Amino acid sequence: MRITVARTPADLEAFRGGVVVPTMGALHAGHGALIEHASRLAGDSPVVATIFVNPTQFNESRDFDTYPRDLEHDLALAAGAGATCVFAPDVDTVYPAGRDVPVPDLPPVATEPGLEDAHRPGHFQGVCQVVARLFDLTSPTRALFGEKDWQQLAVVRAMARATHPGTEIVGSPTVREAGGLAMSSRNQRLGAADRRRASAISAALAEASRWPSSTRDAEANARRVLLENDLEAEYCVIRDAETLLEASPGRPARALIAAPLGDARLIDNAPWPGFAIPAGA
Ligand code: PAJ
Repeated sequence: MRITVARTPADLEAFRGGVVVPTMGALHAGHGALIEHASRLAGDSPVVATIFVNPTQFNESRDFDTYPRDLEHDLALAAGAGATCVFAPDVDTVYPAGRDVPVPDLPPVATEPGLEDAHRPGHFQGVCQVVARLFDLTSPTRALFGEKDWQQLAVVRAMARATHPGTEIVGSPTVREAGGLAMSSRNQRLGAADRRRASAISAALAEASRWPSSTRDAEANARRVLLENDLEAEYCVIRDAETLLEASPGRPARALIAAPLGDARLIDNAPWPGFAIPAGA
């Protein structure tokens, strides 16, 4: 499998106008599925996976410093999934000294829901800054983001509509481990016992979907499943799938959970079937 490693904007010349998959590396099967999805959409155009641990989106420098990094492993995984190029820039390439890289205006879904925005202040500002910069460097026709980070997907979609209307944002389904735990680079920080407890998060999402007639009942029962496994959620809510504000009848809704566990902070989400538009309506 031939793959080009691009380090500078000039290296990217031949790979503009393709399908881009932004990542922070430490690639796992979830990223692999995203790159495979990109390859299917790309046809003959380039498939560029970007690998950049973005300092501006971390809330804690310790989380940034300890973020797993393994470029050799990542190159093999990206090539196997069908990437034609991996763009792995230095910090100075993304944020050149003496030049301000603009932060796009944040859309309401990045500031109003009180979910990741409230628990990780400044996070979406950093995400929007780096994604807009990566889009400027790679000029993608399409870019793929995982549903696992549902609010991030909604934020990037809204941002790109304003800043990069020529780039279509495509969501890709969450890849899970056998016990239901959504794959994440930070799962490496979980010991065996915590890993078992962590599968309560996907179990809680499944429980929420068993209570389709009331958001309150769905939230309370999902929270109960978490507590039975000693997990205390930062949030465990049913929200409008697009705005992430209050859910309302006739519009798609989503169950979303964040919970700290050991050294990790886990997030996950799933469709919530209540309020679904009845067939034939
Ligand atoms: P990272 O956490 O590396 O994730 C890169 C992409 O992979 C994101 O779109 C994320 O939603 C997706 N992803 C992660 N785990 C997944 C899983 N289990 N199944 C499906 N997709 C999954 O998200 C980021 O990096 C950064 O914020 C970034 C967008 C690259 C900006 O720096």
